[in-house]
Amino acid sequence: MTSADKTRPGRLITLEGGEGVGKSTNIAFVVEWLQQRGHEVVSTREPGGTPRAEQMRELLLDPQGSEPLDADAELLLVFAARAQHVAQKIMPALQRGALVVCDRFIDATYAYQGVGRGIETSRIAALEQWVLGDLRPDLTLLLDMSEQVARQRVLSRGAVLDRFEDQEGDFFRAVREGYLTRAHSEPQRFAVLDAALPLEDVQQHIAEVLEQRMQQWGLE
Ligand code: TMP
Repeated sequence: MTSADKTRPGRLITLEGGEGVGKSTNIAFVVEWLQQRGHEVVSTREPGGTPRAEQMRELLLDPQGSEPLDADAELLLVFAARAQHVAQKIMPALQRGALVVCDRFIDATYAYQGVGRGIETSRIAALEQWVLGDLRPDLTLLLDMSEQVARQRVLSRGAVLDRFEDQEGDFFRAVREGYLTRAHSEPQRFAVLDAALPLEDVQQHIAEVLEQRMQQWGLE
């Protein structure tokens, strides 16, 4: 079952991808596209999305300090933030019929903590079942591009790197592979977009996917 049942008439749309693939710009595009068609849209992100979950995000991204963050602690913190976010924001929005657009969600955990950090999939699946129950995204837009090109884009911003951005190249290759493997295993839910194309082309593709899904959901 997905989020689209009688008790939760809304839909959950997630955007995923590695660092530097252009998620922020494209999230804004998705939100505007849906709002222009008269839908209530809740735009949110993970980790974070509520004040307390945003505090947990700070802990996760903070590059400061000499004490490394243990990989299991990182995973549990990701799910602690998600539990708060789902209970306080995502479920109430889906229950009142809103379209929730979330910048990263459960697939990021399989890609970053699973393939990136090497935590067994079964552990992540157990936490997923506990925290999400039967809630899964209805549509996931995966922005995909070569990790080297994406890396250049992150570095060219000139901002201080967070704990994840500051990883080695191998980590980003693993994350990309993790995402693509998930996309191939669930082709109905995922749309994989070539994020290296000019922005106009990427957004044209996103609009086509949204058009098709909204029709399928009876929400045009
Ligand atoms: P972003 O908001 O700039 O994408 O940063 C969030 C970071 O958190 C990003 O580097 C990926 C990481 N992350 C995980 O490692 N696991 C997760 O489950 C989520 C949602 C994010």
